[in-house]
Amino acid sequence: MKHAFVIGDQVQHSRSPVIHQHWIKKYKLANCSYEAIVVTRDDIEDFESRLRSGEFVGGNVTIPHKETALALADERSSTAQAIGAANTLIVSETNQKVSAHNTDAYGFAANLDSGAPQWRNGKTALVLGAGGAARAIVYAVLEAGYERVALANRTLSRTDWFVENFGAKVVPIAWDAVENELPSADLMVNTTSLGMEGNPPLDICLKNAKETLIVTDIVYVPLQTDLMQRATANGLTTVDGLGMLLHQAVPGFEMWFGVRPEVTPELRALVLADLGATA
Ligand code: ATR
Repeated sequence: MKHAFVIGDQVQHSRSPVIHQHWIKKYKLANCSYEAIVVTRDDIEDFESRLRSGEFVGGNVTIPHKETALALADERSSTAQAIGAANTLIVSETNQKVSAHNTDAYGFAANLDSGAPQWRNGKTALVLGAGGAARAIVYAVLEAGYERVALANRTLSRTDWFVENFGAKVVPIAWDAVENELPSADLMVNTTSLGMEGNPPLDICLKNAKETLIVTDIVYVPLQTDLMQRATANGLTTVDGLGMLLHQAVPGFEMWFGVRPEVTPELRALVLADLGATA
């Protein structure tokens, strides 16, 4: 049997089991399984012992273990190392060595490749938020060849990490200066929790945006956040955040189970139904 997991302290809300269990069924992998396991900070050492005992082929890691997962691994991908966090672990079947990967940057880029492939021609990005998700996204945007990433965060000091780690293409800007960036931005990304169900909306006027601006949001509950609705009303191209969640799951599944799965409309509908939303 090949067992995989998603661990985290709030993992009962994770949609990853829906995604991976769908693929296990679709590709008829009768000897494979994927389950959510609640692991708190206090439990992580015990979980590491289970990992090293060979119980699993690997799994996903979410809050609050993404940095710990990177630290405990025997090997780290260059992407995970650069982002400073891992969301995917692989356990070698021969020697139980643990390798740490980060597929969030891939998921972000693959979602845009699918929804607005012209994003790769852009040069200037505007990223809102400087938390963990922003690290993978700024990494992906720079990898795609962007020359300037204006990074706005309510707490400006959190942008320091980005300049130190990713260099001078990252330009910190004040939270209230965001609208000034819109005439030159090719891509705008919300990585904050604003707009998520139960949170206030992201209140930004898009009227000065370039008409070719692509707007994407990592929030996917609701799928059409206030930002996405406003972008659509302004005639801008939008890509919703659900695709990033679906695409980031692809490399992990392939590494654990040996089949590269596909992100299909059927999978998207399944996850949307699970979220209780409508397409
Ligand atoms: P994640 O790791 O998922 O990105 P996080 O590290 O908690 O989560 O980051 C959440 C992001 O949303 C941060 O950029 C946060 O801004 P601060 O660094 O100033 O906290 C942003 N955010 C959350 N609530 C916000 C609000 N009311 N106004 C502006 N930004 C907010």
